[in-house]
Amino acid sequence: MRQSFNRIAEVKGELNLPGDKSISHRAVMFACLAGGISEIHNLSASEDVKSTINCFRQLGCSFSGTDKTLIVEGKGFKKFTRPQNELDAGNSGTTARLLTGILSAQDFTSTIIGDESLSKRPMERITEPLTKMGAVIETSETGTLPLRIFPSSGLNAIEYVLPVPSAQVKSAVLLAGLHLDEETKVIETVPSRNHTENMLNLKVNREGNGTVIYASSANYPLPQNYFVPSDISSAAFFIVLALLTGASELILKNILLNETRSGILEVLRKMGGKISVENIRESNKEKYGDIIVKNSQLENVKIPGNIIPNIIDEIPVLSLAGLFAGGKFEIRNCKELRYKESDRIKALCENYKRLGVDVAEFDDGFELSGEPSVAKPVFDSFGDHRIAMTFAIASLLLEEGGEVENFECVKISNPGFLEQLKRVAR
Ligand code: S3P
Repeated sequence: MRQSFNRIAEVKGELNLPGDKSISHRAVMFACLAGGISEIHNLSASEDVKSTINCFRQLGCSFSGTDKTLIVEGKGFKKFTRPQNELDAGNSGTTARLLTGILSAQDFTSTIIGDESLSKRPMERITEPLTKMGAVIETSETGTLPLRIFPSSGLNAIEYVLPVPSAQVKSAVLLAGLHLDEETKVIETVPSRNHTENMLNLKVNREGNGTVIYASSANYPLPQNYFVPSDISSAAFFIVLALLTGASELILKNILLNETRSGILEVLRKMGGKISVENIRESNKEKYGDIIVKNSQLENVKIPGNIIPNIIDEIPVLSLAGLFAGGKFEIRNCKELRYKESDRIKALCENYKRLGVDVAEFDDGFELSGEPSVAKPVFDSFGDHRIAMTFAIASLLLEEGGEVENFECVKISNPGFLEQLKRVAR
């Protein structure tokens, strides 16, 4: 579907966005691991989280209620039932990778499949450490889905230094480690999102240059109630739109403020963004609060390499803020973007070219200069939700608007995007 957007004059009002996608996946998984009833409040409405729910339904878990309050009946330690069919992770890397960690420790064979995009994404990054733990996993010849996970003759705890800063890899190993009495240790030198650690109450120590995270059966989750703060990655699109649109003032309620996720606020503030935070609270060790954004004059700044994992999902929309800011936008050290729902470096560069901007593409990043010079451009999402929303925001800022092809993929993270836009943009 091709979606058209006209230029808007201001963004005003208040938005309550659905729950954070990363925390929602984990709340569903941990509620399913626990033996008994858990409640999840303000769950993400995304297709990705629906993929997680569908996989666990096939493992014998029951779900009732709505996204506002989801009631989960989990199975308990090693009590999942053998799935009758392949487990379909859809477009969701978090579902496929975290689920592989959990299934590695079960006493039955299972298969994980995914859509075309997920089936191209690298899975050896998780099968390598899980195999070291004794898991028996078969991938395709190219190290991708489908994954076939066989019962092992027993897992053993390992000490694993993460070769890439990835919360999905870290979590896959830690979730397998939950099934062992001995402590599994994961060591990271560059911080990645820490929701698994927070929500499972894992021991985390700073040692030397890195952080050591410990998991064992002592951390196996019990039934509990979860409140999921609203998604900062979905909020980022509205924050950038409000910053770049005249006379805007937008309030985003209950947004996740976890320090391993809020780097986007830090970078935009350094660029001159008027962003303040009020009413800070905490739930399940996750901080959240209300974000107030006002129209601002932005200037590009240097983006340091060690902040990249923190802002990895927000780089598409950050680059748009950079394009409309003073000076040249440049980002490096983000090759990981090539392994997301699309090759995001390629997808971003291609769309900026369609806008008539000067683009330099590097193996690990890109650079933008010049002014948008094409009237009413037609962008392509490349089937990637964050690319679709980035160029929807771009279109809303252009004199004659713009269009985005294959826009329906926004439902992967935020099916209510257009409705939310209608509520605050005019
Ligand atoms: C996620 C981790 C990140 C992120 C993804 C969600 C998670 O991926 O890009 O959208 O929930 O753990 P990587 O672990 O591949 O960096």
